[in-house]
Amino acid sequence: MERFRWPDGFARIPDEDWARQSLESLALKYDSVENHGWYRNLEPTLDQLQAKLEPGQLLIDYSGGTGILVDRLLKRDSELDAGLMIIDASPKFLRLALEKLGKDERLAFRWIRYLKEERRLERMDEVVGDAWLERGADIIASTNAIHLYYGLDETLRSWLRVLKPGGTALIQSGNIRNPAAGDEWIIDETVGAIHRTAMQIVRDDDAYAEYRGGLDDSGRMERYDRLRDKYFIPVRPLGYYEQAITNAGFAIDSIEKQTIEAKVQEWYEFLAVYHDGVLGWLGGVEKIDGRPASEQAVKDRLRLIRASMDQLFNGGESFDACWTYLTCRKPA
Ligand SMILES: C[S@@+](CC[C@H](N)C(=O)[O-])C[C@H]1O[C@@H](n2cnc3c(N)ncnc32)[C@H](O)[C@@H]1O
Repeated sequence: MERFRWPDGFARIPDEDWARQSLESLALKYDSVENHGWYRNLEPTLDQLQAKLEPGQLLIDYSGGTGILVDRLLKRDSELDAGLMIIDASPKFLRLALEKLGKDERLAFRWIRYLKEERRLERMDEVVGDAWLERGADIIASTNAIHLYYGLDETLRSWLRVLKPGGTALIQSGNIRNPAAGDEWIIDETVGAIHRTAMQIVRDDDAYAEYRGGLDDSGRMERYDRLRDKYFIPVRPLGYYEQAITNAGFAIDSIEKQTIEAKVQEWYEFLAVYHDGVLGWLGGVEKIDGRPASEQAVKDRLRLIRASMDQLFNGGESFDACWTYLTCRKPA
């Protein structure tokens, strides 16, 4: 088999503004999850990729973010003979992926833009280029992202237009309500539970007395509920995804679940980046209360997030979360 080559005229790195921007701290902060134990959630997908990806094939990492999946794949097999295309909606995340992996000739990068007039994101078949529409991709992976797709049906249909007949889509997320989860957490649902625990602590603990007043304004608290739902999208059931995937035209070959252990401290460090979304009502956020939280309020907010987590997880060091893995196929 011939070694992988990009088609003639195909730009691995497009000549676009995002590729020239400086690195942003939000992307760097996100990328630190790479060192968190709960990012072991990528390992089953990596096992599948190693089993399925053949020499000369193309893998598209859709919503590839800062490139953690591809980076790990190449660490497992530095001689991997494949094309690896990272597509993402965030130019900041993609910029960091480019920084980490751009020198490797096997990598290509595509940014999907938000088209304001059409009120939608560009679709995969609009960014991969004609050569790939003709040849077709072999595997599409989507990790930790499908629960964020507001145009799910159209997104899945665009994957089908890009995949070869018989091609595979590997989808996984910790934010799918899987009936097999038992008493394991759906990871983003810890946020609502932290919020409810925090409200009780503020009512009971005089150290937070100055923040009590805001809790009784139900209109205000509803606005903070909506803000939290924007940061951490309400979880949908597995059946919703199964239906969308099959309606789009995929066959689902398997649905598996894995228990992923998350360290409370690491999950705290992740949530601390999004503290406005978790407990914005403590100290306020500008677009709801007209002024941002003071430095002291942010400190109190972070302390309260950590204290609520200790209470919620009974002082334990870790909790179990349920991750769902769907293996899907474009019919031949
Ligand atoms: C939680 S990150 C996961 C990144 C990476 N796949 C990983 O596992 O580390 C979610 C990614 O999905 C991207 N994303 C969010 N909404 C999207 C959408 N509607 N379509 C495509 N990508 C989206 C974000 O830009 C972000 O890079």
